[in-house]
Amino acid sequence: MENSKNLIIVIFGASGDLAARKLMPALFSLKAQNIMPEKYAILGIGRTKITTEEFRKKMITSILSFSEEQISDRNLISDFAKDLYYLSMGDYSTEGFSDLKSFLKVTDGKYGIGGSYIFYLATPPSLFEPIAVNLSKAGLLDRKDGFRRVIVEKPFGYDLESARRLNRLLHKILAEEQIYRIDHYLGKETVQNLLVTRFANGIFEPLWNRNYIDRVEITSAESIGVEERGGYYENSGALRDMVQNHLLQVVGLTAMEPPSSLDANAIRNEVLKVFQSLQPIKEEDVPNQVIRGQYTGSLIRGECVTGYRFEKNVAKDSRTETYVAVKFFINNWRWGGVPFYVRTGKRLPTRVTEIVIHFKQTPHHLFQRVSGRFSSNQLIIRIQPDEGILLKFDMKEPGAGFNVKNVNMDFHYKDLANIRVPSAYERLLHDVMIGDSTLFSRDDEVETAWKFLDPIRRAWQNNPEIKVYGYPAGTWGPEHAKDLIEGEGLDWRYPCKNLADDEVYCEL
Ligand code: NDP
Ligand code: BG6
Repeated sequence: MENSKNLIIVIFGASGDLAARKLMPALFSLKAQNIMPEKYAILGIGRTKITTEEFRKKMITSILSFSEEQISDRNLISDFAKDLYYLSMGDYSTEGFSDLKSFLKVTDGKYGIGGSYIFYLATPPSLFEPIAVNLSKAGLLDRKDGFRRVIVEKPFGYDLESARRLNRLLHKILAEEQIYRIDHYLGKETVQNLLVTRFANGIFEPLWNRNYIDRVEITSAESIGVEERGGYYENSGALRDMVQNHLLQVVGLTAMEPPSSLDANAIRNEVLKVFQSLQPIKEEDVPNQVIRGQYTGSLIRGECVTGYRFEKNVAKDSRTETYVAVKFFINNWRWGGVPFYVRTGKRLPTRVTEIVIHFKQTPHHLFQRVSGRFSSNQLIIRIQPDEGILLKFDMKEPGAGFNVKNVNMDFHYKDLANIRVPSAYERLLHDVMIGDSTLFSRDDEVETAWKFLDPIRRAWQNNPEIKVYGYPAGTWGPEHAKDLIEGEGLDWRYPCKNLADDEVYCEL
């Protein structure tokens, strides 16, 4: 793998959940694989007042808790920690940025870096603008000897207006190739594999349209709650946190036309066309096409779990959605009339992300089903965990007569090769270091995604009578989400941790 130039990575929001859970384990893993640059330093900036020593200890604990692999060599973590530094900055004022400038000057000299810096904005989105402006005012974005790159976390803005403003502002102070709008789902191997599944195989593509597909279902379920992130999540909710970015990108890759090449812009152009074809959801249709929910306190496997309104930094009368299910259509020749169902939620029974392609039933039901119900073929593309593909189809039960049973044919990604799959953040951080923006979102994609979702937020804001349904933590969300699915007796798939299982009996 290509090694990057020497550099300093500055993480704004380093005292937060993302830095602890994903960024530090990813950077450590790059170090463990010897693909960090020869000379580098990492500066964490956060509101919490802690010393560099305390920050190092905290990050060591995070790496031990959240790394995907067992770490046998503790010395390697201590070695990694010695290049971590911390600066406390509460209000991101000009004064704080002059401290940052001095830090960079001293550290650059001490390590012999040569002026290449990455600034990672991992704070709540309201701080992206002031941080970018102050970086520019401090002259830290001017390219002199090395490169200056800025990674912007999602959600990119709060709505179309703020996303446009942020894009305009960033374009004033940075060239587009210096901006990396990160959506870590695009860094997931299995999300990239969607392109291969669709476009490297001749068998799926002829069926991949309204003539053969009845509906498409995309689920991203999480078993964790909001935990320490109430401050961020209260202003975000599931729609902004997951749907506007990760899940619409998955929709884009599932629904797009074949790109002319693997060039970043060729793929982005096709995803953009899907976003542009999304049938707008009118404000008055929101109650029929969107269901929102919020988890309430419950007992999960004998343990008391608090409701969302009792989480830290959450208002006691909060109406922020921790669950959302949306039904929509894509108005183009391939997908006209095929409903897409997308749902995501926190404190659901398990952590699963998957795409379910439901094919149409046969035009004539010739055979009896043991269950008495006619099933249709399903292709399930599992993003995580137990990554793989499952095809459900009917077979004859051995014996007299023609009793038909639905069976599974599955492929598990882990059987493909005995190699380690890098985490999404590992892949994307390394891409920024070497200046490859293929897996990052483009300004027009982000804005078009907001344009589609804005009416939903507006309807919720303007019509407080649109219900926020409570659902007990550990369940599959509001019962009403079933009503979204068109067709008698149809329901969502209730996936388990194991790709092949669904419904009631799941491995814990
Ligand atoms: P957190 O709530 O954990 O906080 C992030 C950081 O922002 C912390 O350093 C926190 O400081 C600081 N902060 C919060 N509010 C303020 C404020 N009003 N003024 C100054 N500083 C503030 O959020 P996350 O780390 O979870 O998320 C950060 C970003 O990363 C978001 O944009 C999110 O969408 C994105 N993200 C998060 C993921 C995750 O798994 N957590 C995954 C993918 C993306 P302090 O804690 O010191 O008060
Ligand atoms: C982040 C959201 O973007 O994605 C989190 O802010 C969510 O709320 C996370 O937990 C999910 O990512 P993954 O990779 O665990 O599916």
